Amino acid sequence: MTVIQMPHKTELALSPIDPAELRRCLGSFVTGVTVITVLDDQGNPIGMTANSFNSVSLDPALIVWSLRLNATAFSTYSNAQRFVVNILAEDQVDISNRFARSGLDRFEGVAWTQGLGGVPLIEGCAAYLECTTEQTYPGGDHLLFLGRVQRIVNATRRPLAFGSGKYMVVHPYDNSPGKHVGSGHVATLNAIHLARPCLEDLNRETDKTVGLGVWGNFGPTLIWWIEAKKPLDVRLRCGMVLPLLGSATGKVFAAYSNRSLTQPYLDAEITAAQKTGSSEFINPFQVDQHLEQVRQARIGDVQNAIMADINEKGVNGYSVPVFDASGTIVLALTMMGDSDAFPKDDPALQALKEAANRLSARLGWKS
Ligand SMILES: Cc1cc2nc3c(=O)[nH]c(=O)nc-3n(C[C@H](O)[C@H](O)[C@H](O)COP(=O)(O)O)c2cc1C
Repeated sequence: MTVIQMPHKTELALSPIDPAELRRCLGSFVTGVTVITVLDDQGNPIGMTANSFNSVSLDPALIVWSLRLNATAFSTYSNAQRFVVNILAEDQVDISNRFARSGLDRFEGVAWTQGLGGVPLIEGCAAYLECTTEQTYPGGDHLLFLGRVQRIVNATRRPLAFGSGKYMVVHPYDNSPGKHVGSGHVATLNAIHLARPCLEDLNRETDKTVGLGVWGNFGPTLIWWIEAKKPLDVRLRCGMVLPLLGSATGKVFAAYSNRSLTQPYLDAEITAAQKTGSSEFINPFQVDQHLEQVRQARIGDVQNAIMADINEKGVNGYSVPVFDASGTIVLALTMMGDSDAFPKDDPALQALKEAANRLSARLGWKS
């Protein structure tokens, strides 16, 4: 048996907790958003946005939330015998903001119905918990309310989320990639959800136009893109199917996908190039050589590319592969820029490669 020696407690110097750092740290814990409603002693509806709500016990049914000691309605909440936890739906950001604002009639223009004891149920929420106040506990600058759940109402709306000071919408984690048609080459929803913030960061860091490519029904398909501050003169569309040899995105899919998947597309493009002279790739040998170069450099590119109906001025495009845990290419991250301002040694390309590596690692790929 191996025994790991822990450092003595006295060796660990503890520094005081900085409230701003604590807030930032707590922000990593993403929560739902609720409005806690009560009636004041005059029978008027009172409501306040709170994300400190959490579950406590299933049997008995108990929940908790906490209230700032210096909240205007503190005494109303601490005297109330019952309250309702209105769990907000993803389209209720306005309600959340409204019930966090001071100095206005928060219920004005808000549709609500009376629940148990007449306490407001705000319309359009994801769910409701109608509670009695079981107990309160002091908690530093907050008071904790333990509520006993009397009745629950579930709607089918998706909940609003909150983390790091921002509202969020939630997407279910897709942990059954095997069920996807053909499984290989099909980007899972996870990959796409993880790629989106990654592309946003990349666009912010580099100020380049960036795009996300997947293998669609008809080959490489651009499903999402974000423009640089100074947009390119390119009519990019979501759902645009790209050529395998005439686009950077297409080249990485051609270089890394199973040949049985790509061969019909490559054959068609080579035949078209032989007839029209529209591309440098007129025989399979050239194509193989080029795709080997793409694999060596782990980046596909097109220089001074012009596509009919898409752009008149040439653009340079660069694309890198994202792999899943099995080593299959599932996404391509692409960057574009004016051909006279986006050379092959642009530092943004290093950021592009690093982003793809990070994303692959998150999908379980081990290089
Ligand atoms: C997303 C979000 C979550 C909040 N959670 C809480 C909470 O759990 N407890 C609390 O006391 N205040 C919370 N607040 C702040 C209160 O809603 C806000 O301070 C209060 O409504 C202001 O009213 P007052 O100035 O009239 O007291 C939250 C605000 C927001 C936007």
